[in-house]
Amino acid sequence: MSYNKINEKHLQQLKEIVGEQYVFIDHENLEKYGQDETENLIYYPEVVVKPRTPEEISQLLKFCNQENIPITPRGAGTGLSGGALPINKGILLSMERFNLILEIDERNLQATVEPGVINEVFQNAVKEKGLFYPPDPASKGSCYIGGNLAENSGGPKAVKYGVTKDYVLNLEVVLPNGEIVWTGANTLKNSTGYNLTQLMVGSEGTLGIITKAVFKLLPFPKYNLLMLVPFLNMEQACDAVSEIFRAGVIPSGMEFMERDAILLGAKYVGDYAFTIPDNVQAHLLIEVDGNNLEVLYSDCELITELLQKYDCDEIFFAEDSTQKERLWKIRRVVGEAVKSKSIYKEEDTVVPRAELTTLLKGVKEIGKKYGFSSICYGHAGDGNLHVNILKEKMSDEDWKMQLPIAIREIFTLCVQLKGTLSGEHGIGLVQKDYMDIAFTPGLIEMQKNIKLLFDKNNILNPNKIFK
Ligand code: LAC
Ligand code: ZN
Repeated sequence: MSYNKINEKHLQQLKEIVGEQYVFIDHENLEKYGQDETENLIYYPEVVVKPRTPEEISQLLKFCNQENIPITPRGAGTGLSGGALPINKGILLSMERFNLILEIDERNLQATVEPGVINEVFQNAVKEKGLFYPPDPASKGSCYIGGNLAENSGGPKAVKYGVTKDYVLNLEVVLPNGEIVWTGANTLKNSTGYNLTQLMVGSEGTLGIITKAVFKLLPFPKYNLLMLVPFLNMEQACDAVSEIFRAGVIPSGMEFMERDAILLGAKYVGDYAFTIPDNVQAHLLIEVDGNNLEVLYSDCELITELLQKYDCDEIFFAEDSTQKERLWKIRRVVGEAVKSKSIYKEEDTVVPRAELTTLLKGVKEIGKKYGFSSICYGHAGDGNLHVNILKEKMSDEDWKMQLPIAIREIFTLCVQLKGTLSGEHGIGLVQKDYMDIAFTPGLIEMQKNIKLLFDKNNILNPNKIFK
């Protein structure tokens, strides 16, 4: 599919739609908006626009249909699968000016938010009212709610509280034809028609542009306890994860970090006091939360007892919020820390929780076979393992030719274990070659037809998710 190039007349029209000061064609902006956090990829758009209203977006999409120009929506650019990269050039649509929390409805425990609000800003605003919005991706300090919706983001709390989709009640969306609609209702239950709200969530900006989201909220849990458990054996750490759930505890965080992950994280935040014994291979960071402190202590006791049969070093209990924040900070930066160390590829593998050990073992074996090392960490309680494959000693030739075959083996293993390709980062650009592992040709075709039903001229974030 070929698109038209943007000319002077187009630029003039764009300026009329969003205002002259919100249209950018300077190199610095094109470079900045041509990349997200996905590897070292960069695709320059022809123009960046920053609209402020759904009506402006509607006009932009109508313009793109008329002029056959592709348009790629973007939140904060923290994505790891390249969903926001303008791979076909054209217009980059930044949602950064949609940055208001429109309402926190304390009567109904709901909030209405614009997509350019930073996740943590939203969390803090509802927390001030004693309320809780749980989805907390590692990038919560910078990622936008809109990106979270587009990728159906998770984060550490997902293990107890669920992911972004579990909090969305209703969405205002500008469809590719320019129509502005609400997908559902502001209700906790809804059996009315197809679930268009959930179809939009995780659709990676390919079906419409979300301009408002209504979320349900929870009361903020009063207490939490955090422990860091060092394991002498990486596989035992994975085994312990599912056993803790089977014992009846649902932690609010159950994170796995192999040795290099936690060491790199600590170094990256400048925490040189953080050391671990030579024989420790991996850690579990386990959090429990709730309103009754006694219950939380007894949960921790149960976990500690259960861990006796594993080869663990001394368990560290965080004593106060400073110690807790220190550990979470180290955990949250692991991804960035790996990125700063080596050229890498990140896979967002996910399997049923009890298959985590088999997955981890498999990843390491595939690594040996193809000659790459990997740093694995992630949301073990969800069976969601981030596999960071390091280029390091691999030749350029192997990185290009052999690695895709190795990744295919990793994903095939995931699917054999009844898991899938991505738990929370999406398919975007960089995983789309592997979709045939998860879906039959018929189901891929059906999904492509859904895309075309929404976007018949294929102008909205084209050539993402599917080849
Ligand atoms: C994390 C991001 C990479 O869990 O999803 O750190
Ligand atoms: Zn993650």
